[in-house]
Amino acid sequence: MWTFDERTTVANDTLTITDNRTGKTYEVPIADETIRAMDLRQIKVNDDDFGLMTYDPGFTNTASTRSAVTFIDGDKGILRYRGYPIEQLAEQSSFLEVAYLILKGELPTQGELDEWVYGVTHHTFLHENIRKLMDGFRYDAHPMGVFVSTVAALSTFYVDAKLIHNSEDRQHQIERLVAKTPTIAAFAYRHMMGLPYVYPNNTLSYPGNFLNMMFSTAAGYEIDPVLERALDVLFILHADHEQNCSANAMRSVGSSESDPYCSMAAAAAALYGPLHGGANEMVLRMLREIGDVTNVPAYIKRVKDREVRLMGFGHRVYKNYDPRAKVIKEVAYQVFDVTGRNPLIDIALELERIALEDSFFVERKLYPNVDFYSGIIYEAMQFPVAMFPVLFAIGRTPGWLAQWQELLTDSEQRIARPRQIYTGYEQRDYIAIGKRTDIRRMAGGS
Ligand code: SDX
Repeated sequence: MWTFDERTTVANDTLTITDNRTGKTYEVPIADETIRAMDLRQIKVNDDDFGLMTYDPGFTNTASTRSAVTFIDGDKGILRYRGYPIEQLAEQSSFLEVAYLILKGELPTQGELDEWVYGVTHHTFLHENIRKLMDGFRYDAHPMGVFVSTVAALSTFYVDAKLIHNSEDRQHQIERLVAKTPTIAAFAYRHMMGLPYVYPNNTLSYPGNFLNMMFSTAAGYEIDPVLERALDVLFILHADHEQNCSANAMRSVGSSESDPYCSMAAAAAALYGPLHGGANEMVLRMLREIGDVTNVPAYIKRVKDREVRLMGFGHRVYKNYDPRAKVIKEVAYQVFDVTGRNPLIDIALELERIALEDSFFVERKLYPNVDFYSGIIYEAMQFPVAMFPVLFAIGRTPGWLAQWQELLTDSEQRIARPRQIYTGYEQRDYIAIGKRTDIRRMAGGS
């Protein structure tokens, strides 16, 4: 039986559990609206039982960590980085200032910001060996695959990356990753296009330097301030999102004390999936497939018939409009003032209009998420669809690193190693090869 300990604030902050198999009751402490899964292990029928576990595929109702980085209220559509509303940061801050906030926990003073920006600006170059490594990819390699691989390869260049318990060494790797991801992204694009690499220009802003590395030609490249600011805001909106799939990957790999480059490569690999950061690429392909506003009702029918998913809609946490999607929609019109209207926005707006009225979507609380409109802007800015998840990864880099650092400095955290429900064979004896039955015949195959 449990006695109340410091985890229980008042006597009634407990759960009384009766195991009807034995008639025994247990008092389990409630703290932070959670119970500890390990508190269930005492619940057994026999003393040699393992004890109860929770079963939670996809971690739909499992808190894996405490975190102070990002707060989301999915029902109210609230998103805050270190307590600051995303709407205020998108309107008043810059991506590098937000990256500092997310990583350090506070908005920087002017001196702190200048030092941070200087450090990032002067770490944008890649070692020439890395450039040669990128040359080895197939001529049309998807830039996200190149990005994931190259981030991992950086771990072979910075041996101090393994010193993960040293704060100064961690800050050095963090600065390198925030600085180099745009260079890796731009080089991956230039490789795919068969264009020569454009090296970083330290006189430009973070988004401006990235645009220049992406699109500069023999005739040079004039950075449009509206597009420069739009990209900075898009990076801000993607900077963190609490324990999403890729942050979980960062934490899981990081929990084995792997270096931050390999951990972030794992996070980027998770982001690449079409259900996560790869969704913005799938949204564009979906809008192109629909082709015209008149085809929207037929596509909605296919969604409701479960033939396809409405990409860019739905979210594990948001059961209201994703606040980032609202800001991105405003940014879209600012970009269109420069680039001209992307006709795909009309299809997206009609999809949203119908979906927000249709009971199939309303009952499932499916609203546009961050990926629904971002791709339309990226395309208008001349980014190819294959670059969309890479753009997401640039924005999410400070978030992944903040989650990684929080993991390493949290004394409660241990190596991530979930349990399972075993559904396989009981013990059976080895069979000599001549006495085995062909599995295909066993499965009724030919
Ligand atoms: C991101 O987690 C994060 O924070 C992620 C992210 C971040 O910043 O890191 O916000 C970024 O990944 C945004 C999501 C991008 N993905 C997409 O837009 C892909 C399309 N959306 C889905 O596949 C889905 O909504 C998820 C993956 C986002 C959420 O999946 P869940 O929470 O596991 O929900 P589910 O699949 O259990 O769906 C619940 C119901 C199901 O219907 P029923 O079977 O119960 O009848 O809603 C349906 C689903 O079929 N549903 C959809 C749908 N999303 C959910 N039906 C049609 N179209 C969709 N998009």
